[in-house]
Amino acid sequence: MQIIRDIATLHRAVAALKQGGKSVALVPTMGALHEGHISLVRMGRRVADHVVASIFVNPTQFGPNEDFAAYPRDEARDAGMLVEEGVALLWAPDVGVMYPAGHATHIEVAELGADYCGAARPGHFDGVATVVAKLFNQVRPDIAIFGEKDWQQLAIIRRMARDLDFDIDILGAPIARADDGLALSSRNAYLSPEQRKAAVSFPKALQTAAAALANGDDMYETLAKAEAAIIAGGFDSVDYIALADADSLEQLATFRASARLLAAARMGKTRLIDNYPVG
Ligand code: PAF
Repeated sequence: MQIIRDIATLHRAVAALKQGGKSVALVPTMGALHEGHISLVRMGRRVADHVVASIFVNPTQFGPNEDFAAYPRDEARDAGMLVEEGVALLWAPDVGVMYPAGHATHIEVAELGADYCGAARPGHFDGVATVVAKLFNQVRPDIAIFGEKDWQQLAIIRRMARDLDFDIDILGAPIARADDGLALSSRNAYLSPEQRKAAVSFPKALQTAAAALANGDDMYETLAKAEAAIIAGGFDSVDYIALADADSLEQLATFRASARLLAAARMGKTRLIDNYPVG
């Protein structure tokens, strides 16, 4: 697996991969890889001839009081995992390559980025959309794969690809979960063993609520019950819990086909997100 850090070499390497009409799938990551990322790579191997992975901890999607400096980084370990999965090329630019001095242009995500995670993390999705657009232009893949765990991010990237005419198929990969149901996340590493045990209350409460909503139970009562169960399970607060249209992310008052239950909760300094289909 080639590890590439400059754009000219990347363009040559991707062009070589595409020779003879072969397709390329991009799996963008911020590193700290786990089984969830590996499931994206495996999906890439199924749907394309070659997989290109990127590792870039993107400063513009972290707020001033967030964990950018502390975000786990271990490129050698991550690269070893990608080699084992047959990834053709790792794109791992430095910050100065991604955002050279004088970089001044960014994408602004309007209403899709305002609520849910966007409300607690102002500017976060502008940073995500900007870096993903740059990754698309740098790698020029046929397909790009994102995890469904960040449902709002996936919806925003789908919309951005449509709005900005990227000729790239955006695929969502199902959430990879631990045996007890907790969605895999690089941030789970911040949880103490006791917190990790307690964190299972989050997916449990959401799954119960999703089933109740699909069953026709009252939305406000169901969401209130779920919030109470998450707090009783050991979380300090629930940032949001909402029933939303899966594509437009419009908040819904009642269940409808293609609804998604979205939530974020905090335990100590760790903020976890998760979502479930309803119905
Ligand atoms: O989901 C992530 O890991 C990041 O938000 C992404 C898509 C790689 C952009 O930095």
